[in-house]
Amino acid sequence: MPSAASRDFLALEGLSASELTSWLDLAEAMLPYAFGKAPVASPLPLAGKLIANIFFEDSTRTRCSFEIATKRLGGDVTNLGASGSSASKGETLLDTALNIEAMGVDAIVVRCAISGGSQLLANALDVPVINAGDGRHEHPTQGILDLLTIRRHLHEVHGPRSGGTDFAGRTIAIVGDIVNSRVARSAVHGLVTLGAKVLLVGPPTLVTSDFEQLARGAGSIEVGHELDGVLPRLDAIMMLRIQLERAAGGGVAPDYRAQFGLTEARASMLPEHCAILHPGPVNRGVEIDDRVSDDRRASRILTQVTAGVATRMAVLKRLLADQ
Ligand code: CP
Repeated sequence: MPSAASRDFLALEGLSASELTSWLDLAEAMLPYAFGKAPVASPLPLAGKLIANIFFEDSTRTRCSFEIATKRLGGDVTNLGASGSSASKGETLLDTALNIEAMGVDAIVVRCAISGGSQLLANALDVPVINAGDGRHEHPTQGILDLLTIRRHLHEVHGPRSGGTDFAGRTIAIVGDIVNSRVARSAVHGLVTLGAKVLLVGPPTLVTSDFEQLARGAGSIEVGHELDGVLPRLDAIMMLRIQLERAAGGGVAPDYRAQFGLTEARASMLPEHCAILHPGPVNRGVEIDDRVSDDRRASRILTQVTAGVATRMAVLKRLLADQ
């Protein structure tokens, strides 16, 4: 079972509310350093450490933010992608990771198409493994950055809670291709553990009723296939893209935007205090309209990206410097 004190960081499933809160607190403490405007305490926590980013699926936010986080903490990075590596000659993910470990790196950050691929590496390697998204399984650093973005938003609206978690009794919708989404799975585990009510909304083929059993905790999960009715109830809404790379129903249905897109008309049905999130990459004009995505009052999409640097700093620091 993963915990805040684990050597690896593979999933949010199994973390307790206090462990999640501890990760959120550490990530929040890293936020002032995420832009590099304030220097991290000397000596730099990752001085002399070399981190390998093995990304066998494409990435903009996660790969760059792990690299930036490492450098902000004084560490060095080597990057390997599927393209240009010997994966193209048939070398497996595990053999690739074992070879990189044999070069003396201090940790491996891995993204791959195999659900459970990060656990596979963690079982075989001696260095810490950090899951940067494995198939449909989990994307735990994305989960922490999403929780942090929502918690900061709740603090802005309501102020911090003195007892219980800030998420208790709050209602958060995740909309779109849930079946194929590791982002949704990590978010659901974190939110339910922290006491939120999670509404999973999308077409029946992409949001199946078994998701109501995905996570157990103080919160709850509701599955639905109609968006308009839930909008006025929400404290936050996270839109997801259709994951065509995971053969999500063979394509985007022509009426997807009309049924499930966060259009300007739908955004006007949200409460004033509701935050709008999207993990990226955004398919503008499909799951979210331009003006909604770019609305600086409600949209937290770029705030999520900054929280991503802070979150990855927190994870790297705790796994490599604080233990
Ligand atoms: N949110 C996210 O994982 O984005 P990337 O695929 O660009 O890393």
